[in-house]
Amino acid sequence: MPAKILDGKALSETMRKEISIDAAKLQAATGVQPGLAAVLVGENPSSQIYVRNKQKACAQAGFASWLHQLSASTTQSTLLELIAKLNADPAVHGILVQLPLPPQIDESAIVRAVTPTKDVDGFSPENVGLLAAGHARYIPCTPHGVHQILLRNDIPIEGRRVVVVGRSNIVGKPVALLLMQKARGANATVTVCHSQSQDLPAVTREGDIVVVAIGQGQFLKREMVKPGAVVIDVGINRLPDGKLVGDVDYGPVSEIASAITPVPGGIGPMTITMLLYNTLQAARLLSGNKV
Ligand SMILES: NC(=O)c1ccc[n+]([C@@H]2O[C@H](COP(=O)([O-])OP(=O)(O)OC[C@H]3O[C@@H](n4cnc5c(N)ncnc54)[C@H](OP(=O)(O)O)[C@@H]3O)[C@@H](O)[C@H]2O)c1
Repeated sequence: MPAKILDGKALSETMRKEISIDAAKLQAATGVQPGLAAVLVGENPSSQIYVRNKQKACAQAGFASWLHQLSASTTQSTLLELIAKLNADPAVHGILVQLPLPPQIDESAIVRAVTPTKDVDGFSPENVGLLAAGHARYIPCTPHGVHQILLRNDIPIEGRRVVVVGRSNIVGKPVALLLMQKARGANATVTVCHSQSQDLPAVTREGDIVVVAIGQGQFLKREMVKPGAVVIDVGINRLPDGKLVGDVDYGPVSEIASAITPVPGGIGPMTITMLLYNTLQAARLLSGNKV
């Protein structure tokens, strides 16, 4: 039987409606409109598309949003000054600095400069630490999207073997932290693999759930997946012919998996949805409101 398609686009639409209703309730009760400031440095075309999509999603959810577009030659101190202003601005609840940044800017210095209560990407050391300790304030958006797509499709996680391929700070590591938490809807037995892992196919075949985030098109082959496994594809890659593909060899893998996320239309839209979710959380937190 072909795999169930885990439709991130449809789930995103449902969740964005829920978020916009909650945002309207917050605004009606307190006058606070959730606000997200996006900072884009340089002209990376993918970054421009990502930021544009995030702004569009904010407008649709009834959030305020601002775009600060800086030239590729911007210095680190200019960017730090802007972040200090956004940190101090009460209308701004979430700050998003689109990565990657140009080489003259130290990314980790910028990530650390965003005040943790406005760090809706969840990348600051404080927020990473809270997630690792099991008291997450803002869960990083892509890992949160992975978790939500599993939960909202009633895919059992507790006690199951999850194999995460990729150990980046923005996807692989936080996905592992999230799914191994001692909490309902998590409690998985998690293995994390990377480029130095030996006999990767033997490890991925053990996964009841396999999450792939490596940035290599169609890497996870059918023979690397246990029949009936759930496959979550985080990758976004462009083939030489321009076609967009994930890190999973979708056609053959979907013949033996029980459920699979497509690319596009899987984790991509969920990432933006969870950014809206975190921005709403930030607005509640910063306005001291529980609505
Ligand atoms: N859908 C979304 O919203 C979204 C969001 C973020 C990222 N992405 C996509 O997800 C993918 C991963 O992004 P990222 O930022 O996590 O990438 P990254 O920072 O480049 O990390 C890649 C990870 O994959 C591992 N890796 C690379 N080749 C491997 C191989 N052959 N076997 C096993 N592990 C391997 C690397 O291992 P080492 O640590 O040993 O180098 C590293 O841990 C990209 O395609 C990116 O575009 C999508």
